Amino acid sequence: MAALWCVVPAAGRGTRVGGDLPKQYLPLAGRPLILHTLERLAAHPLIAGLMVVLGGKDEHWPGIGQLADKPVLTTLGGAERCDSVLAGLRALPAEVADEAFVLVHDAARPCVRQADIARLIERAVPAGGGLLGAPLRDTLKRAGSDGRSHTTEPRDHRWRAFTPQMFRRGELSAALLAAAVAGVTVSDEAMAMEHAGFAPLLVEGAEDNIKVTTAADFALAEFLLPRTT
Ligand code: CTP
Ligand code: MG
Repeated sequence: MAALWCVVPAAGRGTRVGGDLPKQYLPLAGRPLILHTLERLAAHPLIAGLMVVLGGKDEHWPGIGQLADKPVLTTLGGAERCDSVLAGLRALPAEVADEAFVLVHDAARPCVRQADIARLIERAVPAGGGLLGAPLRDTLKRAGSDGRSHTTEPRDHRWRAFTPQMFRRGELSAALLAAAVAGVTVSDEAMAMEHAGFAPLLVEGAEDNIKVTTAADFALAEFLLPRTT
């Protein structure tokens, strides 16, 4: 199995965390959140290099060119996460073939486990592409605008989607472009692939692969970091 490149969208502003500094640069266990994420990815033997997608006027990127002897490249993202991922795919080195699988992993998920990255690659390569996720465990309610629960939705067959997600460079680029042309803002790569007629494989991963989203998530991520290697 040849090692794969990983696109890391990090061009968001972290509005739900608040504050001036985008969340990927806020300290987690004393170091910028994004560094933890990048180090985990670079440490994985099946990852060949990282393409970090940065926001415009980003003055905080530490200018890393290499991690664990692997290249770390950067490019400029866009208004939505899907725009940033497409920009990252386009900026990959020419040596990454259209048929090659590429991982996409949120900068905001520093607790991803090495074993889950390996399992995703092992299962989703023969399936043509897939993503980490987990079956829904809680009861799901549909809320009305009155803030009351009006119905209970079936839980079976419903999964939460995580990252990494892994697809072929060419197919994913075409799917993201097609969604953009159709005016569909896709919230993850799998949604773009579904829109293009694919059925990505769901690979169950640890639920502690949290996306740091609110200020309170920093304490949780700090607790999880040393426990999720
Ligand atoms: N992201 C990106 N480009 C965007 C929006 C988001 O690269 N235009 C990245 C974020 O930096 C993050 C990941 O996509 O690593 C997941 O997005 P999310 O958790 O929503 O981060 P933000 O968009 O920064 O946060 P918020 O939605 O609260 O503003
Ligand atoms: Mg966002």
